[in-house]
Amino acid sequence: MEVVTAVKGFKDILPEETGRWQYVEARAREVFAAFGCREIRVPILERTDLFARGIGEATDIVEKEMYTFRDRGGECLTLRPEATASIIRAYLEHSLHVADPVAKLYTIGPMFRRERPQRGRYRQFHQIDVEILGHEAPCIDGEVILMLLHFLRSVGLKAPHLEVNSLGCNICRPGYRASIQGFLAGREADLCGDCRRRLDTNPLRVFDCKVPSCREIVDQAPGVTDSLCGECRDHFAAVLVSLDAFDIAYVINPRMVRGLDYYTRTAFEVTTEFLGAQNAVAGGGRYDGLVRELGGPDIPGIGFAVGFERLLALTAEDLDDVPPFSPELFIAALGDPARQFAYALGNRLRLQGRRVEMDCRPRGLKGQMKRADKLGCRRVLIVGDREMETRQAELRDMTTGEQVRVSLDDPSSWEYLLV
Ligand code: HAM
Repeated sequence: MEVVTAVKGFKDILPEETGRWQYVEARAREVFAAFGCREIRVPILERTDLFARGIGEATDIVEKEMYTFRDRGGECLTLRPEATASIIRAYLEHSLHVADPVAKLYTIGPMFRRERPQRGRYRQFHQIDVEILGHEAPCIDGEVILMLLHFLRSVGLKAPHLEVNSLGCNICRPGYRASIQGFLAGREADLCGDCRRRLDTNPLRVFDCKVPSCREIVDQAPGVTDSLCGECRDHFAAVLVSLDAFDIAYVINPRMVRGLDYYTRTAFEVTTEFLGAQNAVAGGGRYDGLVRELGGPDIPGIGFAVGFERLLALTAEDLDDVPPFSPELFIAALGDPARQFAYALGNRLRLQGRRVEMDCRPRGLKGQMKRADKLGCRRVLIVGDREMETRQAELRDMTTGEQVRVSLDDPSSWEYLLV
Protein backbone atom coordinates (compact mmCIF):
# COMPACT_ATOMS: atom_id res chain seq x y z
CA MET A 1 0.00 0.00 0.00
CA GLU A 2 1.17 3.52 -0.73
CA VAL A 3 2.51 5.60 2.16
CA VAL A 4 0.47 8.73 2.87
CA THR A 5 2.82 11.71 2.70
CA ALA A 6 2.72 15.10 4.41
CA VAL A 7 0.87 18.02 2.83
CA LYS A 8 2.98 20.15 0.47
CA GLY A 9 4.79 22.90 2.36
CA PHE A 10 4.24 21.16 5.71
CA LYS A 11 7.43 19.79 7.17
CA ASP A 12 8.20 17.16 9.77
CA ILE A 13 10.74 18.11 12.39
CA LEU A 14 12.61 14.88 12.97
CA PRO A 15 14.15 13.71 16.27
CA GLU A 16 17.67 14.59 15.10
CA GLU A 17 16.57 18.21 14.60
CA THR A 18 14.48 18.74 17.72
CA GLY A 19 17.52 19.26 19.97
CA ARG A 20 18.27 22.47 18.06
CA TRP A 21 14.67 23.61 18.28
CA GLN A 22 14.70 23.05 22.04
CA TYR A 23 18.03 24.84 22.40
CA VAL A 24 16.76 27.91 20.53
CA GLU A 25 13.50 27.90 22.49
CA ALA A 26 15.41 27.72 25.76
CA ARG A 27 17.56 30.73 24.76
CA ALA A 28 14.41 32.63 23.74
CA ARG A 29 12.77 31.94 27.09
CA GLU A 30 15.90 33.06 28.96
CA VAL A 31 16.32 36.29 27.02
CA PHE A 32 12.63 37.18 27.08
CA ALA A 33 12.39 36.51 30.82
CA ALA A 34 15.29 38.89 31.41
CA PHE A 35 13.24 41.56 29.65
CA GLY A 36 10.12 40.75 31.69
CA CYS A 37 8.14 38.83 29.05
CA ARG A 38 5.84 35.97 30.00
CA GLU A 39 4.59 33.18 27.83
CA ILE A 40 1.05 33.06 26.48
CA ARG A 41 -0.32 30.15 24.44
CA VAL A 42 -3.18 30.89 22.13
CA PRO A 43 -5.18 28.58 19.84
CA ILE A 44 -4.08 27.77 16.33
CA LEU A 45 -7.61 28.21 15.02
CA GLU A 46 -9.46 31.52 15.21
CA ARG A 47 -12.50 33.12 13.66
CA THR A 48 -11.55 34.36 10.19
CA ASP A 49 -12.82 37.80 11.04
CA LEU A 50 -10.02 38.32 13.59
CA PHE A 51 -7.35 38.20 10.88
CA ALA A 52 -9.40 40.04 8.27
CA ARG A 53 -9.81 42.93 10.71
CA GLY A 54 -6.38 42.65 12.28
CA ILE A 55 -4.04 42.08 9.34
CA GLY A 56 -6.15 43.93 6.75
CA GLU A 57 -8.53 42.75 4.03
CA ALA A 58 -6.34 43.98 1.20
CA THR A 59 -3.10 42.20 2.16
CA ASP A 60 -1.59 39.16 0.46
CA ILE A 61 -1.99 37.17 3.64
CA VAL A 62 -5.74 37.76 3.96
CA GLU A 63 -6.53 37.83 0.26
CA LYS A 64 -4.62 34.76 -0.85
CA GLU A 65 -2.72 32.92 1.81
CA MET A 66 -5.03 31.96 4.64
CA TYR A 67 -6.23 28.43 5.30
CA THR A 68 -9.88 29.26 5.77
CA PHE A 69 -12.77 26.83 5.93
CA ARG A 70 -16.25 26.41 7.31
CA ASP A 71 -16.46 23.90 10.12
CA ARG A 72 -19.35 21.50 10.47
CA GLY A 73 -21.35 24.12 12.34
CA GLY A 74 -20.95 26.53 9.42
CA GLU A 75 -18.54 28.86 11.24
CA CYS A 76 -15.82 30.48 9.15
CA LEU A 77 -12.46 29.62 10.75
CA THR A 78 -8.82 30.20 9.84
CA LEU A 79 -5.55 28.55 10.80
CA ARG A 80 -3.60 31.48 12.21
CA PRO A 81 -1.20 33.08 9.73
CA GLU A 82 0.50 35.03 12.56
CA ALA A 83 0.20 35.46 16.31
CA THR A 84 -0.24 39.19 16.94
CA ALA A 85 -3.99 39.35 16.34
CA SER A 86 -4.59 36.21 18.42
CA ILE A 87 -2.56 37.53 21.34
CA ILE A 88 -4.49 40.80 21.35
CA ARG A 89 -7.76 38.89 21.17
CA ALA A 90 -6.73 36.89 24.25
CA TYR A 91 -5.51 40.04 26.03
CA LEU A 92 -8.90 41.67 25.49
CA GLU A 93 -11.06 38.57 25.97
CA HIS A 94 -9.51 37.86 29.38
CA SER A 95 -9.43 41.55 30.33
CA LEU A 96 -5.69 41.40 31.00
CA HIS A 97 -5.64 45.11 30.15
CA VAL A 98 -8.07 46.00 32.95
CA ALA A 99 -5.77 45.01 35.79
CA ASP A 100 -2.67 46.32 34.01
CA PRO A 101 -2.61 47.63 30.45
CA VAL A 102 1.09 46.83 30.26
CA ALA A 103 1.60 43.24 29.16
CA LYS A 104 4.83 41.75 27.86
CA LEU A 105 3.97 38.50 26.17
CA TYR A 106 5.59 35.92 23.97
CA THR A 107 4.50 32.78 22.20
CA ILE A 108 6.26 30.13 20.14
CA GLY A 109 4.38 27.97 17.68
CA PRO A 110 3.22 27.11 14.17
CA MET A 111 1.66 29.58 11.73
CA PHE A 112 0.03 28.78 8.39
CA ARG A 113 0.22 30.65 5.11
CA ARG A 114 -0.52 29.14 1.73
CA GLU A 115 2.48 30.69 -0.02
CA ARG A 116 4.49 29.11 -2.81
CA PRO A 117 6.83 26.74 -0.96
CA GLN A 118 10.54 27.30 -1.57
CA ARG A 119 13.73 27.32 0.48
CA GLY A 120 12.97 29.10 3.74
CA ARG A 121 9.28 29.45 2.87
CA TYR A 122 6.80 26.89 4.11
CA ARG A 123 3.06 26.66 4.43
CA GLN A 124 3.36 25.64 8.04
CA PHE A 125 6.23 27.48 9.68
CA HIS A 126 7.03 28.49 13.23
CA GLN A 127 7.42 31.86 14.81
CA ILE A 128 8.93 33.10 18.02
CA ASP A 129 6.68 36.06 18.65
CA VAL A 130 6.85 38.86 21.22
CA GLU A 131 4.19 41.50 21.87
CA ILE A 132 4.56 44.40 24.30
CA LEU A 133 1.25 46.13 24.99
CA GLY A 134 0.57 49.38 26.80
CA HIS A 135 3.82 51.24 26.13
CA GLU A 136 3.98 54.16 23.76
CA ALA A 137 7.41 55.57 24.59
CA PRO A 138 10.07 55.31 21.86
CA CYS A 139 12.57 53.85 24.34
CA ILE A 140 10.41 50.70 24.34
CA ASP A 141 10.90 50.40 20.58
CA GLY A 142 14.64 50.54 21.20
CA GLU A 143 14.34 47.97 23.97
CA VAL A 144 12.31 45.56 21.81
CA ILE A 145 14.87 45.77 19.00
CA LEU A 146 17.71 45.35 21.51
CA MET A 147 16.04 42.23 22.89
CA LEU A 148 15.48 40.81 19.39
CA LEU A 149 19.10 41.31 18.34
CA HIS A 150 20.41 40.00 21.63
CA PHE A 151 18.32 36.85 21.21
CA LEU A 152 19.42 36.38 17.59
CA ARG A 153 23.07 36.75 18.56
CA SER A 154 22.70 34.47 21.57
CA VAL A 155 21.83 31.59 19.24
CA GLY A 156 24.73 32.39 16.94
CA LEU A 157 23.17 34.45 14.14
CA LYS A 158 25.99 36.18 12.32
CA ALA A 159 25.88 39.64 10.79
CA PRO A 160 22.23 40.54 11.34
CA HIS A 161 21.29 43.51 9.20
CA LEU A 162 18.64 45.76 10.77
CA GLU A 163 16.41 48.00 8.70
CA VAL A 164 14.07 50.47 10.35
CA ASN A 165 11.40 52.83 9.17
CA SER A 166 8.54 54.88 10.53
CA LEU A 167 5.17 54.38 8.88
CA GLY A 168 3.50 57.37 10.52
CA CYS A 169 0.16 57.42 12.27
CA ASN A 170 -3.46 57.91 11.34
CA ILE A 171 -2.81 61.66 11.11
CA CYS A 172 0.07 61.65 8.63
CA ARG A 173 -0.46 58.33 6.85
CA PRO A 174 -3.49 59.46 4.78
CA GLY A 175 -1.36 62.23 3.25
CA TYR A 176 1.39 59.78 2.36
CA ARG A 177 -1.13 57.31 1.00
CA ALA A 178 -2.55 60.03 -1.23
CA SER A 179 0.90 60.97 -2.50
CA ILE A 180 1.66 57.32 -3.33
CA GLN A 181 -1.70 57.00 -5.04
CA GLY A 182 -0.85 60.05 -7.13
CA PHE A 183 2.61 58.69 -7.91
CA LEU A 184 1.25 55.28 -8.97
CA ALA A 185 -1.65 56.67 -10.97
CA GLY A 186 0.66 57.70 -13.81
CA ARG A 187 2.35 54.28 -13.79
CA GLU A 188 -0.71 52.08 -13.59
CA ALA A 189 0.08 50.25 -16.82
CA ASP A 190 3.37 48.90 -15.39
CA LEU A 191 1.86 47.63 -12.15
CA CYS A 192 0.98 43.98 -11.63
CA GLY A 193 -2.72 43.04 -11.48
CA ASP A 194 -2.79 42.91 -7.66
CA CYS A 195 -1.20 46.33 -7.22
CA ARG A 196 -3.46 47.88 -9.86
CA ARG A 197 -6.51 46.44 -8.16
CA ARG A 198 -5.33 47.73 -4.77
CA LEU A 199 -4.58 51.23 -6.00
CA ASP A 200 -7.74 52.54 -4.33
CA THR A 201 -8.01 50.21 -1.37
CA ASN A 202 -4.40 49.81 -0.29
CA PRO A 203 -1.83 51.56 -2.50
CA LEU A 204 1.00 51.08 0.04
CA ARG A 205 0.93 47.34 -0.64
CA VAL A 206 2.96 48.00 -3.77
CA PHE A 207 5.99 48.37 -1.50
CA ASP A 208 5.62 44.78 -0.46
CA CYS A 209 5.05 43.43 -3.98
CA LYS A 210 7.62 40.96 -5.29
CA VAL A 211 6.87 41.43 -9.01
CA PRO A 212 10.02 42.95 -10.65
CA SER A 213 8.16 45.68 -12.60
CA CYS A 214 6.48 46.83 -9.37
CA ARG A 215 9.82 46.80 -7.55
CA GLU A 216 11.29 49.10 -10.19
CA ILE A 217 8.46 51.58 -9.68
CA VAL A 218 8.78 51.35 -5.91
CA ASP A 219 12.45 52.31 -6.11
CA GLN A 220 11.46 55.73 -7.43
CA ALA A 221 8.47 56.27 -5.14
CA PRO A 222 8.64 58.91 -2.43
CA GLY A 223 9.63 57.45 0.95
CA VAL A 224 7.34 57.79 3.94
CA THR A 225 9.88 59.61 6.13
CA ASP A 226 9.32 62.95 4.41
CA SER A 227 5.60 62.97 5.11
CA LEU A 228 5.69 62.16 8.81
CA CYS A 229 3.88 64.55 11.15
CA GLY A 230 5.86 66.31 13.85
CA GLU A 231 4.99 63.80 16.58
CA CYS A 232 5.88 60.80 14.44
CA ARG A 233 9.12 62.45 13.36
CA ASP A 234 10.05 63.09 17.01
CA HIS A 235 9.08 59.55 17.99
CA PHE A 236 11.22 58.05 15.22
CA ALA A 237 14.17 60.29 16.09
CA ALA A 238 13.93 59.15 19.71
CA VAL A 239 13.82 55.48 18.63
CA LEU A 240 17.03 56.03 16.68
CA VAL A 241 18.63 57.70 19.70
CA SER A 242 17.87 54.65 21.82
CA LEU A 243 19.34 52.36 19.14
CA ASP A 244 22.46 54.50 19.07
CA ALA A 245 22.70 54.33 22.84
CA PHE A 246 22.99 50.53 22.57
CA ASP A 247 25.39 50.78 19.61
CA ILE A 248 22.90 49.01 17.39
CA ALA A 249 23.75 49.46 13.73
CA TYR A 250 20.77 50.06 11.44
CA VAL A 251 19.82 51.31 8.02
CA ILE A 252 16.77 53.51 7.56
CA ASN A 253 14.72 52.09 4.71
CA PRO A 254 11.96 54.61 3.91
CA ARG A 255 10.31 52.09 1.56
CA MET A 256 9.88 49.28 4.02
CA VAL A 257 6.16 48.94 4.85
CA ARG A 258 5.91 45.24 5.88
CA GLY A 259 3.20 42.87 4.73
CA LEU A 260 0.58 43.52 7.38
CA ASP A 261 -1.63 46.61 7.57
CA TYR A 262 -1.63 47.19 11.31
CA TYR A 263 1.73 48.92 11.64
CA THR A 264 2.04 52.52 12.77
CA ARG A 265 5.29 54.40 13.35
CA THR A 266 8.27 52.09 13.93
CA ALA A 267 8.67 49.10 11.60
CA PHE A 268 11.76 46.93 11.38
CA GLU A 269 13.18 43.86 9.72
CA VAL A 270 16.26 41.76 10.24
CA THR A 271 17.83 40.15 7.20
CA THR A 272 21.18 38.51 6.58
CA GLU A 273 23.15 38.24 3.40
CA PHE A 274 22.77 34.46 3.60
CA LEU A 275 19.01 34.44 3.08
CA GLY A 276 18.66 36.95 0.25
CA ALA A 277 17.02 40.34 0.61
CA GLN A 278 13.45 39.09 0.25
CA ASN A 279 13.69 36.70 3.14
CA ALA A 280 13.74 38.39 6.50
CA VAL A 281 14.65 36.28 9.50
CA ALA A 282 12.52 38.54 11.71
CA GLY A 283 10.18 41.46 11.37
CA GLY A 284 8.00 43.60 13.53
CA GLY A 285 6.87 47.03 14.50
CA ARG A 286 4.50 49.22 16.41
CA TYR A 287 0.73 48.88 16.04
CA ASP A 288 -0.83 51.64 18.07
CA GLY A 289 -4.29 51.31 16.50
CA LEU A 290 -4.69 47.53 16.48
CA VAL A 291 -6.10 46.96 19.97
CA ARG A 292 -8.83 49.49 19.21
CA GLU A 293 -9.39 47.97 15.77
CA LEU A 294 -10.03 44.64 17.47
CA GLY A 295 -12.66 46.16 19.75
CA GLY A 296 -10.52 47.21 22.72
CA PRO A 297 -9.52 50.57 24.19
CA ASP A 298 -6.79 52.79 22.85
CA ILE A 299 -3.73 50.79 23.91
CA PRO A 300 -0.49 50.96 21.95
CA GLY A 301 1.58 47.91 21.11
CA ILE A 302 4.83 46.81 19.53
CA GLY A 303 6.24 43.39 18.74
CA PHE A 304 8.12 41.16 16.38
CA ALA A 305 8.24 37.61 15.11
CA VAL A 306 11.30 35.55 14.28
CA GLY A 307 10.95 32.85 11.61
CA PHE A 308 12.12 29.74 13.46
CA GLU A 309 13.03 27.68 10.37
CA ARG A 310 14.96 30.58 8.84
CA LEU A 311 16.83 31.21 12.08
CA LEU A 312 17.79 27.54 12.32
CA ALA A 313 18.94 27.45 8.70
CA LEU A 314 21.26 30.36 9.49
CA THR A 315 22.63 29.02 12.73
CA ALA A 316 22.74 25.29 12.02
CA GLU A 317 26.52 25.01 12.23
CA ASP A 318 26.84 26.99 15.43
CA LEU A 319 24.22 24.88 17.09
CA ASP A 320 26.22 21.72 16.44
CA ASP A 321 27.44 21.82 20.02
CA VAL A 322 23.91 21.33 21.28
CA PRO A 323 24.34 18.17 23.35
CA PRO A 324 22.84 15.27 21.43
CA PHE A 325 20.21 13.23 23.15
CA SER A 326 22.18 10.12 23.98
CA PRO A 327 21.83 7.68 26.89
CA GLU A 328 24.26 8.00 29.80
CA LEU A 329 24.24 4.26 30.37
CA PHE A 330 23.60 1.11 28.38
CA ILE A 331 23.08 -2.10 30.31
CA ALA A 332 24.20 -5.07 28.25
CA ALA A 333 22.73 -8.27 29.66
CA LEU A 334 23.51 -11.91 28.82
CA GLY A 335 21.08 -14.62 29.92
CA ASP A 336 17.60 -14.41 31.38
CA PRO A 337 18.44 -13.55 35.02
CA ALA A 338 20.79 -10.76 33.89
CA ARG A 339 18.15 -9.45 31.46
CA GLN A 340 15.55 -9.31 34.23
CA PHE A 341 18.05 -7.54 36.46
CA ALA A 342 18.93 -5.05 33.69
CA TYR A 343 15.25 -4.37 33.07
CA ALA A 344 14.64 -3.63 36.76
CA LEU A 345 17.80 -1.59 37.34
CA GLY A 346 17.49 0.34 34.07
CA ASN A 347 13.93 1.40 34.78
CA ARG A 348 14.74 2.27 38.40
CA LEU A 349 17.56 4.56 37.23
CA ARG A 350 15.21 6.13 34.68
CA LEU A 351 12.77 6.97 37.46
CA GLN A 352 15.64 8.90 39.03
CA GLY A 353 16.11 10.86 35.81
CA ARG A 354 19.01 8.94 34.27
CA ARG A 355 18.99 8.31 30.53
CA VAL A 356 19.37 4.55 30.34
CA GLU A 357 18.93 2.04 27.51
CA MET A 358 19.02 -1.72 27.37
CA ASP A 359 18.12 -4.31 24.78
CA CYS A 360 15.33 -6.52 25.98
CA ARG A 361 15.78 -9.02 23.16
CA PRO A 362 18.02 -12.01 23.84
CA ARG A 363 21.13 -10.92 21.92
CA GLY A 364 24.84 -11.58 22.07
CA LEU A 365 27.31 -9.16 23.64
CA LYS A 366 28.63 -7.98 20.27
CA GLY A 367 25.18 -6.97 19.05
CA GLN A 368 24.44 -5.13 22.28
CA MET A 369 27.76 -3.28 22.23
CA LYS A 370 27.03 -2.24 18.65
CA ARG A 371 23.65 -0.89 19.69
CA ALA A 372 25.20 1.01 22.61
CA ASP A 373 27.68 2.52 20.18
CA LYS A 374 24.98 3.44 17.69
CA LEU A 375 22.97 5.19 20.39
CA GLY A 376 26.09 7.11 21.42
CA CYS A 377 26.06 5.75 25.00
CA ARG A 378 28.97 6.97 27.06
CA ARG A 379 29.08 4.00 29.44
CA VAL A 380 28.08 0.36 29.30
CA LEU A 381 27.45 -1.95 32.23
CA ILE A 382 27.98 -5.58 31.26
CA VAL A 383 26.00 -8.16 33.23
CA GLY A 384 26.00 -11.98 32.74
CA ASP A 385 25.49 -15.05 34.94
CA ARG A 386 28.85 -14.60 36.70
CA GLU A 387 28.13 -10.98 37.51
CA MET A 388 24.73 -11.98 38.86
CA GLU A 389 26.50 -14.37 41.21
CA THR A 390 29.34 -12.10 42.35
CA ARG A 391 27.06 -9.02 42.36
CA GLN A 392 29.89 -7.11 40.69
CA ALA A 393 30.19 -5.98 37.08
CA GLU A 394 32.40 -3.93 34.75
CA LEU A 395 31.30 -0.40 33.87
CA ARG A 396 33.02 0.50 30.62
CA ASP A 397 33.72 4.01 29.38
CA MET A 398 33.08 3.77 25.63
CA THR A 399 35.25 6.75 24.77
CA THR A 400 38.39 5.80 26.72
CA GLY A 401 37.87 2.03 26.98
CA GLU A 402 38.55 2.29 30.74
CA GLN A 403 36.72 -0.22 32.98
CA VAL A 404 35.70 0.12 36.61
CA ARG A 405 34.36 -2.68 38.80
CA VAL A 406 31.08 -1.65 40.40
CA SER A 407 28.57 -3.16 42.79
CA LEU A 408 25.26 -4.29 41.31
CA ASP A 409 23.54 -3.98 44.67
CA ASP A 410 24.62 -0.40 45.25
CA PRO A 411 24.24 1.63 42.06
CA SER A 412 24.28 4.84 44.08
CA SER A 413 27.99 4.20 44.80
CA TRP A 414 28.90 4.52 41.09
CA GLU A 415 26.13 6.70 39.78
CA TYR A 416 28.46 9.70 39.94
CA LEU A 417 30.40 8.12 37.06
CA LEU A 418 27.42 8.56 34.76
CA VAL A 419 27.64 12.32 34.30
P1 HAM B 1 5.93 38.64 9.23
O1 HAM B 1 6.96 39.55 8.69
O2 HAM B 1 4.78 38.31 8.35
O3 HAM B 1 5.43 39.34 10.56
O4 HAM B 1 6.61 37.31 9.71
C1 HAM B 1 7.69 37.30 10.62
C2 HAM B 1 8.75 36.29 10.22
O5 HAM B 1 8.15 35.00 10.06
C3 HAM B 1 9.37 36.57 8.86
O6 HAM B 1 10.41 37.53 8.98
C4 HAM B 1 9.91 35.20 8.49
O7 HAM B 1 11.15 34.96 9.12
C5 HAM B 1 8.87 34.27 9.08
N1 HAM B 1 7.97 33.80 8.02
C6 HAM B 1 6.91 34.44 7.49
N2 HAM B 1 6.33 33.70 6.53
C7 HAM B 1 7.04 32.55 6.44
C8 HAM B 1 6.94 31.36 5.65
N3 HAM B 1 5.96 31.18 4.76
N4 HAM B 1 7.87 30.39 5.84
C9 HAM B 1 8.85 30.53 6.74
N5 HAM B 1 8.99 31.62 7.52
C10 HAM B 1 8.10 32.62 7.39
C11 HAM B 1 4.46 38.84 11.36
O8 HAM B 1 3.99 37.73 11.27
C12 HAM B 1 4.06 39.78 12.47
N6 HAM B 1 2.97 39.17 13.23
C13 HAM B 1 5.25 40.13 13.34
C14 HAM B 1 4.88 41.05 14.45
C15 HAM B 1 4.66 40.73 15.73
N7 HAM B 1 4.68 42.35 14.33
C16 HAM B 1 4.35 42.84 15.49
N8 HAM B 1 4.30 41.86 16.36
